[in-house]
Amino acid sequence: MARITFIQPDGSRQSVESGEDETVMLVGVRHNVARLPADCGGQLACASCMVDVAESWREAVGGPGLDEGDMIEDALGARPRGRRLSCQIAVTEALDGLEVRLPEKQG
Ligand code: FES
Repeated sequence: MARITFIQPDGSRQSVESGEDETVMLVGVRHNVARLPADCGGQLACASCMVDVAESWREAVGGPGLDEGDMIEDALGARPRGRRLSCQIAVTEALDGLEVRLPEKQG
């Protein structure tokens, strides 16, 4: 289990606990985090689960995979540093304390 903090564009924070074998997206959806529609349910088909990983966590989280990066670029026309699809981030103990920001607008 890991504690993950979701930060909204207005700065409000929501810290929640992950369950077993969850992605960051599943943790957020299960706790009704706003601005996280995750329309495709984690199938890497919607880009509506984007988050910006806090700079201090980027190395631990890693960068996007090939298809994930393409999807982010298709949605935004760019690949902002730290931007990930939260359905592609598996939560592990190593991510305990992770902070991610929700963008103003999803893809
Ligand atoms: S939930 Fe659709 S791409 Fe992540």
